Amino acid sequence: MDSFLIHGGNRLKGKVEISGSKNSSLPILAACLMAEGTTTIKGVPRLSDIDSMTKLLVELGCNTHRHDPLLTDEEGPVLNGPLDLTVTDESKSEARYDIVKTMRASICVLGPLLAKRGRAVVSIPGGCAIGDRPVDLHVRGLQKLGADFHYENGNIVGRVKGNGGRLKGCRMYLGGPQGPTVLGTINVMCAAAMAEGDTVLVGAACEPEVGDCAELLIKMGAHISGHGTPEIRIEGVDKLKGTEHRVIPDRIECGTFMIAAAITNGELELKHCNLDHLVAVVDRLEEIGVHIERKDGTIFVNSARRLNPVEMTTQPYPGFPTDVQAQLMALLCLADGMSVVTERIFPDRFLHVGELNRMGARIRKDGSTAIIQGVKELQGAAVMASDLRASAALVLAGLVAKGTTRIDRIYHMDRGYEKIEQKLRAVGADMERVKEG
Ligand code: EPZ
Repeated sequence: MDSFLIHGGNRLKGKVEISGSKNSSLPILAACLMAEGTTTIKGVPRLSDIDSMTKLLVELGCNTHRHDPLLTDEEGPVLNGPLDLTVTDESKSEARYDIVKTMRASICVLGPLLAKRGRAVVSIPGGCAIGDRPVDLHVRGLQKLGADFHYENGNIVGRVKGNGGRLKGCRMYLGGPQGPTVLGTINVMCAAAMAEGDTVLVGAACEPEVGDCAELLIKMGAHISGHGTPEIRIEGVDKLKGTEHRVIPDRIECGTFMIAAAITNGELELKHCNLDHLVAVVDRLEEIGVHIERKDGTIFVNSARRLNPVEMTTQPYPGFPTDVQAQLMALLCLADGMSVVTERIFPDRFLHVGELNRMGARIRKDGSTAIIQGVKELQGAAVMASDLRASAALVLAGLVAKGTTRIDRIYHMDRGYEKIEQKLRAVGADMERVKEG
């Protein structure tokens, strides 16, 4: 296993290309199960989660081919070539435990399989470091479209028995105790795209990733409106056909690099990102004293030496994303005063707190709230990554800490950040990947 060694203290300066969105690519790749012919997806990042999803799709009868990167591409980062997906065999319908345990987003094949093949067996995603993550809303939404489910040996087994084996549209409420569900909305929206009749999803998630998947489905021939709002309308169609689509930029990676500029008192130019997807993040960062400017599609970020303390509560989109909570907490460790962070989406998502405190931070947890007393400096230390965004927070803290930080279990980071150490080194970070131990 690999670790990162980071020698802190360098101001970051220069250009960073933001990759395509992991959280948009995953459900979009799963939705390709419903298309006839080849679908070409541009901007899909090279990540271990993407490898897991393509492996799953191959097991479900897809041919996949990654083209070589284009030499130049005005539209997006030239990090990766387009990915082709073609369904060649519809006999299989099982998403095995060995793949699902590595990546919860495997659940995204449930809706497309039921809609296109009338059956699906998906291993129930197990425990997660960031907290409780049931999939009851996915199942409930698909049941309302006419699927029958039972649980067997750790699997969700779904079948469309009635209505000639075809799902049937209806009006439904999809909200849960913590509000809307992102992947649940996408799963049910995909299934409804091929159901008989109309579906109205009330309480739908509004995240940009939902809208991106809807845009892909529309290019495939689906009739969808209202995506990006809490009420999505879908008129089912018999067939979806292959198409070409570019995924949206990764707003979480972009938010992470904005904070990298702020925490190192640096100056970064971020290319291929969409600031409209980060309004709540920009709002908090500007309150802290970070200067953010957009010019010709490039985002310029630099920050004052003095960081103001703030309060922040994570919320469903367009509120502050839970996936940037840990990174913001790392920044607030150095603010001039006391900050309060409340986690509303995954109330237990605080495994980074103990590790940041090992680096000299002063954070106290109280239920789903963390109180952060700013300190003058952080110290390098040996720390352990527990999940994807916690690892990003530790890297950010390591960039500014005095001395050397060693971060173990960085496989978590490889799940969601493409070429992270190359990108950071290119703008001045003193960082290397080493074998753990
Ligand atoms: C997506 O997960 C993202 N993952 C997560 O990013 C992100 O944190 C989350 O949305 C919230 O923004 C991907 O897109 C692959 P939810 P998802 O269903 O869809 C509860 C990262 O770091 N809930 O919107 O699985 C749930 O427990 C990852 O990249 C139910 O109760 O999240 C949570 O409290 C981590 N029942 C809340 O809803 C359900 O059936 C929101 O979860 C589903 C969810």
